[in-house]
Amino acid sequence: MNLRLFIASAVVAVGVSAYAAIADYRVVPLPQSVTLAPEVSGCFILGSDTKVDAPKTLRREADFLRSYLGVLPKSGAKGVIELRLGLKSDNPEAYRITVAPKKIIVEGASAAGVFYGLQTLRKSLPVDISMPVEMPVGEIYDAPRFSYRGAHLDVVRHFFDVDEVKTFIDMLALHNINKFHWHLTDDQGWRVEIKKYPRLTEVGSKRPGTLIGRYGAGTEIDSIPVEGFYTQDQIRDIIKYASERHIEIIPEIDLPSHMMAALASYPELGCTGGPYEVLCTWAGYKDVLCPGKDKTMEFISDVLTEVMELFPSRFIHIGGDECPKDRWKECPDCQARIAELGIVATDEASAETQLQGYVTRYAADIAAKHGRSVIGWDEILECEDIPQDAVVMSWRGIDGAVKGTARNHRVIQTPNDYLYFDYYQSDNMDREPLAIGGYVPVERVYSFEPFSDGMSEAQQALVMGPQANLWTEYVPTFSHLQYMELPRMAALAEVQWTQPEQKNYHDFKCRMPRLIANYEREGYNYAHHIEDTDINYKADRSGGALEMSASVYPGSTVRYSLDGSVPGESSKVYARPLFLDQDCVVNAVSVGADGTMGTVQSDTLVITAPTFGEITLGYEPYSPFAFGGAEALVDGLIGNDNFRSGRWVGFLGDPCDATITFREPATVSQVTFKTCLVWPEGALEYRKAEVYGSADGETFELLATLDNPGQDPKQGNGAYLHKIDFDPVTLKALRVVITPCEPSGMWKRILFVDEISAK
Ligand code: ACM
Ligand code: ZN
Repeated sequence: MNLRLFIASAVVAVGVSAYAAIADYRVVPLPQSVTLAPEVSGCFILGSDTKVDAPKTLRREADFLRSYLGVLPKSGAKGVIELRLGLKSDNPEAYRITVAPKKIIVEGASAAGVFYGLQTLRKSLPVDISMPVEMPVGEIYDAPRFSYRGAHLDVVRHFFDVDEVKTFIDMLALHNINKFHWHLTDDQGWRVEIKKYPRLTEVGSKRPGTLIGRYGAGTEIDSIPVEGFYTQDQIRDIIKYASERHIEIIPEIDLPSHMMAALASYPELGCTGGPYEVLCTWAGYKDVLCPGKDKTMEFISDVLTEVMELFPSRFIHIGGDECPKDRWKECPDCQARIAELGIVATDEASAETQLQGYVTRYAADIAAKHGRSVIGWDEILECEDIPQDAVVMSWRGIDGAVKGTARNHRVIQTPNDYLYFDYYQSDNMDREPLAIGGYVPVERVYSFEPFSDGMSEAQQALVMGPQANLWTEYVPTFSHLQYMELPRMAALAEVQWTQPEQKNYHDFKCRMPRLIANYEREGYNYAHHIEDTDINYKADRSGGALEMSASVYPGSTVRYSLDGSVPGESSKVYARPLFLDQDCVVNAVSVGADGTMGTVQSDTLVITAPTFGEITLGYEPYSPFAFGGAEALVDGLIGNDNFRSGRWVGFLGDPCDATITFREPATVSQVTFKTCLVWPEGALEYRKAEVYGSADGETFELLATLDNPGQDPKQGNGAYLHKIDFDPVTLKALRVVITPCEPSGMWKRILFVDEISAK
């Protein structure tokens, strides 16, 4: 026995130690209930020598547990962890952990339940595991909120080898994720061996290079070949690996669009016959599979059949997104198919949109013959006539989920504006590796509620669960992949697993260091933004001030300045909320125990007549972009050029019609407001603004209007300040009506407005 172990044994003897490493069962995702029993003296001492007892049916789980314990030193205690089946629960993934001084029992409603219990034990370990761990006596009961807890990975835009895919699966297991949506085919590569069509991998798995820089900014292609595919043996091996970790793999064959790799391999499957190339860039193509040709339909049938022979999953993903119809309109075979099917264009769906519905039905029929159902991206809803058992994956926001459930389809929630992990996770773009765009910080992921506003109970029952997607156009290495996933996957896990009334972002952040210690033990790369402070504000209307509070990540301090200077070692340390009642620039930064500085969080406060006034809106904001709601328009905080920052308020289709009663009457001659334009991401410019004033707070008179001739797509991105001048007038209240431009294109276009000021 070495000295450290001897000391540890001595700790056991007295039962407690000021320096002991103590487990905490409030892990990520947070269990449903954790009940400690402080009245019981002593605790279980966990170490690599803790004995594991399990029936044969749980032999694999026992092996996992031994490997998790392997990170600890020996305990010298003679404790036993017993794994059992037989927990009575309606939820097959439920588990209960009972901790007594000499025994821990992990009891699952199934082997999966036991597995999740083990994940909780593993994540409950303290950050410092250089000594045996004290496990407090008590009971944990847990079961997931959703049965579908998904993560998607695109292995096409960049390829990840078998070992990397297995590590990705390990990452999912650590976060209690049970569905791996594997995006295996696309325009830039075909990555699954199909025996009947060998050219798919001989030709289609290779491309000579990749677009340099952001799509739309240039056309130069590098000369670094990207190639790779999985043989069927490798796929079987990966499926087994995942299934041992209670993860089901759902393969995606994206059709009828995103098929350039297949067309390059078999040009006869396209409308024009080619030639085609595996794409080195991300969009801008018009070629898709030709459903007018029998050979193409046979191809779909053959490929899906081989895929279903390989993958045992209940669902097969058939894509269906972003299908341009240009070629079908001109193709005699497609037009002949439309005629043969008796398709007639309607106001809602063109003949070609309905032709895509025919492809969806055809693929769903093949799946049904094998006892499976299909999942499709939300575009499959554009055709009325799709099979009732088709699952809709809502990616263009939550609309696909709302519409899909209204049409009685099961849905999976994967809205881009909350759960696309290829989006930026910080709005400090200069410090981030190039990403596709967007802005989905950890807190945004955490805030997602899968039961969207307005869904009835019947609709909610059709929500299978949430999933995050990682497209890899700008993710060239596995380490970068981990940076994009972690720790956003932790926030996702809590959206998927934890009951909504138990969720709290601040509490989540406090629980993260233990999970991050697991990342470090496993050698996972992860993003550090979560260690930054979050600055929150609350208007104190009666006091005419803004209450500012900063979150402090465990083990760090927050330093701040209010004069616009960059906070440094000599700046004030944040200790308690501040009340701000004058114009200022707040800069705050988190400083780690080792002195490392995070990213400076900055806000500008400008106080004018409407600030902290009573505000009502004529139209509700659009819920995914409501952020702080009406009050955000008069909270004194000025939105920067990131419309997702939380400072802005989004309106979909309706004007921003704000009536503001001042805290006290004021003489004003100018109203200003800002709009935020990000072309082409969905932010829209205003068309007209009207300003009305009221001296008595009841009757309003038009004071001035401002016209904007229209939206110019060439207009640069950013926040624009608009000023409306009029003769000085003393007012009690103000009404500002900001009308949006007409939307166009595939995306919803949202009007983002911030701070309405007057002086
Ligand atoms: C998608 O992101 N095109 C489904
Ligand atoms: Zn065609």
